[in-house]
Amino acid sequence: MASSSSTKKNTMRLQSSAPLLLLHLLMARFSSSADLLQNPDFESLPTNLPPENSTAEFIPLNQTTTTLPGWTFEGTVLYVNAGKTVSLQRNGSHAVQLGPDGRINQTFTTEGSSGSASIYLLTITVTYSAVGGGRNCTASAAAVVSAPDSRTEVYQRDGYDGKPWQSFGVYLGNWEEGEVVDLVIESMSSDPDPDTICWPIVDSVLLKSARSLASDNGNLLPNQDFELGPEFLTNSTEGILLDQAQSPLQSPLTQWSILGTIKYIDSDHFFVPAGNAAIEIIAGNSTGIQTAVPLSQGSSYTLKFTLGDANDSCVGDLSITAQAGSVLKNYTVQSNGTGSGQSFSMTFEAGSGTTPTPISFLSLTALQTKAGAFCGPVIDDVVLRASMGVRVAMNWSFLLFLALFAASAV
Ligand SMILES: *[C@@H]1O[C@H](CO)[C@@H](O)[C@H](O)[C@H]1NC(C)=O
Ligand SMILES: *[C@@H]1O[C@H](CO)[C@@H](O)[C@H](O)[C@H]1NC(C)=O
Ligand SMILES: *[C@@H]1O[C@H](CO)[C@@H](O)[C@H](O)[C@H]1NC(C)=O
Ligand SMILES: *[C@@H]1O[C@H](CO)[C@@H](O)[C@H](O)[C@H]1NC(C)=O
Ligand SMILES: *[C@@H]1O[C@H](CO)[C@@H](O)[C@H](O)[C@H]1NC(C)=O
Ligand SMILES: *[C@@H]1O[C@H](CO)[C@@H](O)[C@H](O)[C@H]1NC(C)=O
Ligand SMILES: *[C@@H]1O[C@H](CO)[C@@H](O)[C@H](O)[C@H]1NC(C)=O
Ligand SMILES: *[C@@H]1O[C@H](CO)[C@@H](O)[C@H](O)[C@H]1NC(C)=O
Ligand SMILES: *[C@@H]1O[C@H](CO)[C@@H](O)[C@H](O)[C@H]1NC(C)=O
Ligand SMILES: *[C@@H]1O[C@H](CO)[C@@H](O)[C@H](O)[C@H]1NC(C)=O
Ligand SMILES: *[C@@H]1O[C@H](CO)[C@@H](O)[C@H](O)[C@H]1NC(C)=O
Repeated sequence: MASSSSTKKNTMRLQSSAPLLLLHLLMARFSSSADLLQNPDFESLPTNLPPENSTAEFIPLNQTTTTLPGWTFEGTVLYVNAGKTVSLQRNGSHAVQLGPDGRINQTFTTEGSSGSASIYLLTITVTYSAVGGGRNCTASAAAVVSAPDSRTEVYQRDGYDGKPWQSFGVYLGNWEEGEVVDLVIESMSSDPDPDTICWPIVDSVLLKSARSLASDNGNLLPNQDFELGPEFLTNSTEGILLDQAQSPLQSPLTQWSILGTIKYIDSDHFFVPAGNAAIEIIAGNSTGIQTAVPLSQGSSYTLKFTLGDANDSCVGDLSITAQAGSVLKNYTVQSNGTGSGQSFSMTFEAGSGTTPTPISFLSLTALQTKAGAFCGPVIDDVVLRASMGVRVAMNWSFLLFLALFAASAV
């Protein structure tokens, strides 16, 4: 009850102050810090493991005799030593498997400077494998990540990369300094037979907080080069999957709604046109990102962006539809799959002044890499500026006329 009413209150506050928040973020850049959890990768061994089991690949944890540093657990939770049947993001590492009713939680205290709220984003890396190996599972359980302001299901996907593990970005919440937040990760399956289910194995959870700092670069779009998103894992070459997010304020890609699934890519492992991060639209036709900005009615604006490929062997025509207000235009680049970016711009006039103007980038492309992973167009470095349009010129001439009129009247 307490958590649902606080969620509601928070959502209402966010909705009513949305235009203000957008305005506040118009001229913002961000500071962030990562790694706010204890034992985030489960590399600290549980205490009192039964000696005869300590080298097994799966070790059932007993709630009465064992503790998992940093975490509380309930239900069926197994400690995992990666080996023959389990392949984790890092070789030789450890993880926890959440079996039937398996649940782990950790509380953390929010940080930051007083008076300004921070956004909390989680990167969770999950592997699926049947317990004991050799068994074929017919269904996969989801790992459910929840906090007082959010609940996200993370489930296994086929065809997103060739690796047995996947990383997902999750929006947790938006909190001021000094709040105590309980992060819960649990298993969830609709299949009644636990033996035929692949239970999720959580390899690591990386928590990041980020807040806006004053800056002004004349760009009217928030998070325009997608630098504010979940934290990348140092050694991961696969990027981070971001699932559907309807509200731009409760999205792992801050200030942007997500339609379908996109891949959040880092410059260490992909071609990224600007900064350290970009997005690759991988889920095919009509998927992508969208935001909305308050603009002055009738004024002219220019939307500039970079379209390209991520250097992940995605070969073919990469096409998107860019929308700004009521203007829709298609753009295409030819990709060798070796990393390239081309800058485009479109000019449009803002419509009704009462509703924010929608800005979106949707894919028209469904492609796969040589390794069989879904891939698609990369978008980055989106810039929205007021154009020096006719109306502005008219105002200038009108002002000049007034000034001359005033001078001649004296
Ligand atoms: C050791 O592991 C096996 C299977 O992995 C399990 O059945 C058994 O209960 C474990 N022993 C202890 C003491 O946890
Ligand atoms: C957990 O340990 C307690 C105390 O040793 C024991 O009584 C209990 O049976 C164990 N539970 C399981 C599920 O192994
Ligand atoms: C883990 O080690 C095995 C064998 O040494 C190797 O084949 C595999 O590619 C390694 N995986 C990673 C992610 O490094
Ligand atoms: C997990 O949640 C319980 C309350 O449900 C709390 O008492 C416990 O301290 C939490 N565990 C951690 C490690 O924060
Ligand atoms: C699992 O599936 C594979 C391929 O479908 C099959 O060859 C194998 O025998 C199955 N294993 C079990 C234990 O059912
Ligand atoms: C990244 O990989 C290097 C080399 O394999 C290894 O030494 C390092 O510990 C890894 N770092 C992390 C955070 O996994
Ligand atoms: C792409 O999506 C649009 C709108 O949903 C639809 O009209 C169109 O037919 C789709 N194109 C393809 C090739 O599926
Ligand atoms: C963009 O391309 C799609 C698919 O070819 C087409 O249906 C749509 O009408 C085009 N939109 C514009 C604005 O040209
Ligand atoms: C594609 O490859 C050809 C030949 O290697 C090269 O000349 C061309 O510039 C490449 N195009 C792009 C967009 O990278
Ligand atoms: C693409 O990746 C290869 C290595 O995988 C690298 O050598 C090359 O510089 C990258 N190209 C771009 C444009 O980033
Ligand atoms: C002139 O500028 C004002 C605000 O500075 C604006 O409200 C008005 O619409 C502009 N007039 C024209 C004709 O563009």
